[in-house]
Amino acid sequence: MTIKLLASILIALIAISTTGISEAQAKALVVVFSRADENYSVGNITEGNTMKLAKLIAEKTGADLFEVKPYNKYPADYKKCTEVAQEELRVNARPPILEDKNPEEYDTIFLGYPIWWGDLPMCLYTYLERHDFNGKKIYPFATHEGSGMGRTESTLRLALPGAEIGRGLATRGSDAQKLTPRTVSALESWLKAAGF
Ligand SMILES: Cc1cc2nc3c(=O)[nH]c(=O)nc-3n(C[C@H](O)[C@H](O)[C@H](O)COP(=O)(O)O)c2cc1C
Repeated sequence: MTIKLLASILIALIAISTTGISEAQAKALVVVFSRADENYSVGNITEGNTMKLAKLIAEKTGADLFEVKPYNKYPADYKKCTEVAQEELRVNARPPILEDKNPEEYDTIFLGYPIWWGDLPMCLYTYLERHDFNGKKIYPFATHEGSGMGRTESTLRLALPGAEIGRGLATRGSDAQKLTPRTVSALESWLKAAGF
């Protein structure tokens, strides 16, 4: 073995030990939609409940983070937002989104969203239908106020038939907002079960 080869192995080992992230784990992407503003159970918030979890997942796994932002921001008023979302669900809308991120280079996608009327917010379908998720592992995480994962694990299987949909993580919105110790520990166990 040449000195040059030994040196490059050493550098790679140092990189892994200092970041704590292996190359396989770095190939993960957190895709999240989350809404700040007025929320039924936690009042007016500057950062959405699901976003709190998304950032923690990115921090703990070294994953990149992409936020899905609808072109037309949802109303800050909670009741108005529920009305807009209900209508979008009724007409099976695909609201336009502002930016995009190709998931091509990632093996694992952590997909985060609030439960809206038992389903995913429709702007997430806009994003999901734009890309090829065949052969990718998708780990959904949702925040809610009683519905758990709602219908989303089955709607995701229908929307992404070629992807492997892993076990979902359902967290109460208020617990996610506060990042309670129980919430963090449940998230850590879920990540561990997913191999992270
Ligand atoms: C439009 C809308 C619809 C909702 N529908 C449900 C629902 O069907 N079931 C439920 O448990 N919570 C529902 N909620 C509550 C949210 O899922 C919960 O507050 C979530 O934590 C919000 O996450 P966010 O701050 O990341 O957007 C709804 C909230 C909104 C705004």
